[in-house]
Amino acid sequence: MSAPIKMVLDLDTGIDDALALAYVLGCPDVELVAVVCSYGNVTVGTATRNTLALLRMLGHPEVPVYRGVDRALGAKGEFRPPAGVVRIHGENGLGGQELSGWCYAAPRSGVDYLAQTLDEADEGLRYVPTGPLTNLALALRATSVDARALPRVTFMGGALTVPGNVTPCAEANIHNDPEAADAVLRSGLPTRMVGLDVTHRVVLTRAETARWRALGTPAGRFFADMTDHYIGVYEKSNPHMGGCALHDPLAVAASIDPSLVGCHAANLRVDLDGATRGRTVCDPDRLRVAEKDCEVALGVDVPRFLEVFLAHVERALT
Ligand code: RIB
Ligand code: CA
Repeated sequence: MSAPIKMVLDLDTGIDDALALAYVLGCPDVELVAVVCSYGNVTVGTATRNTLALLRMLGHPEVPVYRGVDRALGAKGEFRPPAGVVRIHGENGLGGQELSGWCYAAPRSGVDYLAQTLDEADEGLRYVPTGPLTNLALALRATSVDARALPRVTFMGGALTVPGNVTPCAEANIHNDPEAADAVLRSGLPTRMVGLDVTHRVVLTRAETARWRALGTPAGRFFADMTDHYIGVYEKSNPHMGGCALHDPLAVAASIDPSLVGCHAANLRVDLDGATRGRTVCDPDRLRVAEKDCEVALGVDVPRFLEVFLAHVERALT
């Protein structure tokens, strides 16, 4: 038996982040080493609380959780999710499904933890951010290691060939901190971008959540109700999709098994000004550089991903 893949997640724990967490915990090939939390779908405090409670619900209270930064680079006040985001993920980020009990995060800062993890990382480490890239941008500033030598980071965010989901150009995770995303994408760090180009193609329906409810476990009921809230939002905003997009689970899946996505190699940057602020684009200054540091996912094996997703999540909820 080969050694498990060591993974660190960086979540702004809303609904699809929770699904990504369940995917990882249900995957027999992965050891979840820690979770760093971010603002985005909710405040960083709520993301931290949600993560701790979900880990306990899913039988893994031993996984350490670190509280990351509470705002974008250069932002003046703590990030508060706008009304549109509250509508999508619910007031508590989990579709209004109540979590009981008090939980405490490890006292250490998420950025310190991440910087040390990058300093010590061997090539097997998988770090997967599925929220804004602020924690990573700050950790890259703090680490002494050359970003080009670090293991590839698979992140959920961006849109190269399709419109954004916050503005016509910007996807939510990049929109929340374009400066951080630009710093990461131009640092030389090897990355794999799992953006709306592919995540809008992997869709979950109420037929699958009914299966989770039928498991008869508290976690099965919680995840079914939480995800039905998310599907309900999509039924209104994107009725043509027939369900909800599995953004964050696809990113963790592609990190574990890159053969699930087909990629185009590119050097990217993020537009920081004007109407296109937050757009991920090919960096004009590096078009002729032969080495490309980002693998942009433009294709996805939908049936294979959904099969693995359902198997892993069902295992985690049982
Ligand atoms: O655009 C989708 C992304 O924004 C997902 O990561 C979702 O959880 C939100 O953070
Ligand atoms: Ca997310």
